[in-house]
Amino acid sequence: MSADARQREARVATLEQLLEVYERSVIEQSNKLYAEQQRMRLQTTLLESQGEASLDGILSSSVDGRILFANARLAELWGIEAPVIGERSYRATLGAMAERTADPAGFLERAAAAEAAQASREQIALRDGRTFDGYSAPIRSHEEELLGRVWYFRDISAVVEIDRMKNEFISAVSHELRTPLTSIRGSLDLMASGIAGTLPEEALSLTRIAQSNCERLVRLINDVLDIEKIDAGRMELALDRIVLEALVERAVEWMRPYAAELEVTLHFESRAPRALVRADDDRLAQVMDNLLSNAAKFSPAGQSVEVLLERRGPRLRVAVTDHGPGIAPDQHARVFQKFAQLDASAARRREGTGLGLHIARALVERLGGRIGFSSEPGVGSTFYFELPECSA
Ligand SMILES: Nc1ncnc2c1ncn2[C@@H]1O[C@H](COP(=O)(O)OP(=O)(O)O)[C@@H](O)[C@H]1O
Ligand SMILES: [Mg+2]
Repeated sequence: MSADARQREARVATLEQLLEVYERSVIEQSNKLYAEQQRMRLQTTLLESQGEASLDGILSSSVDGRILFANARLAELWGIEAPVIGERSYRATLGAMAERTADPAGFLERAAAAEAAQASREQIALRDGRTFDGYSAPIRSHEEELLGRVWYFRDISAVVEIDRMKNEFISAVSHELRTPLTSIRGSLDLMASGIAGTLPEEALSLTRIAQSNCERLVRLINDVLDIEKIDAGRMELALDRIVLEALVERAVEWMRPYAAELEVTLHFESRAPRALVRADDDRLAQVMDNLLSNAAKFSPAGQSVEVLLERRGPRLRVAVTDHGPGIAPDQHARVFQKFAQLDASAARRREGTGLGLHIARALVERLGGRIGFSSEPGVGSTFYFELPECSA
């Protein structure tokens, strides 16, 4: 064999080896690809069956308005034709849904606004009386690219109905309780006044206990009724221009006897005489009563409570400062919640319902103001509210 021929043979052998390596790598790659494909298929099936098994109606669309996914529940829930996946019918689907709502224009408007937002949530009233909870969020790639949007719709009619029944029940019971209670209170007051004959000391002290508990029940019932009105949006306000100083002055005078019983003195300083606010006299007095009674009942005997009325820019601020136990920072979030009584043992002596501040906040906010507090444990608390000042 010539040297040439040997060289050629060696080259062919190398090529053959190379080819074999390539072949192996191709087979390996295609096996991997196949496995990957299988995994993707499984993923898709899994996602689809999860989507189908959901009790929520699910709709996702791409940025160009194509339907990416819609489960059968969606069409069933809304009573619309099932959207076809892949079709550019997102707008049409939203339109069909809108027709089922009590306020189609509003629904479409809010849907458009939701599309610009991150995530959004709303309650949707339907024409047939049902209520849906609608949740929507953007779909983004790992690289944060916007791919589309997903919607979840849940029928919460039963929850809404139960809530309505609960409120109706509470309100009915409270009303029913109030009438006999008012009569009991009246009778007790008469008895204590001695109109039915002078009571022996023992009986008088029992009557006073009954009176004070009766007052407490009346307060509780009135608070519960107020909350119910606020939650149902039925709290009516009689707005008037009010001299804030006079209102605070009256509230402080009214609270004096109660504070005196607890050996607490009240001081009022006004730095905004004659300043006006637009408010409901009785309701604002109710806010003051609660701030003052809280300050008084959480003050140790012998302490004073300072009330300050002052201007803060365009607003008037009334602040009630006590030198009581204060409120621990981890309790701050709870103060305005319903039935919030932070320290149960301390609150027992200082009877209350835990509804006062919740009501106060709702009232102040309805009046266009805000309410807040600052507090240092062991030093005291300042609760305040602010209302826009009216021009004379
Ligand atoms: N001035 C205050 N000092 C300390 N804690 C307070 C003060 N005001 C309110 N709180 C806390 O907030 C809770 C809720 O107050 P509120 O809603 O008025 O209910 P209530 O007066 O019926 O207890 C009180 O029970 C108390 O724990
Ligand atoms: Mg209170």
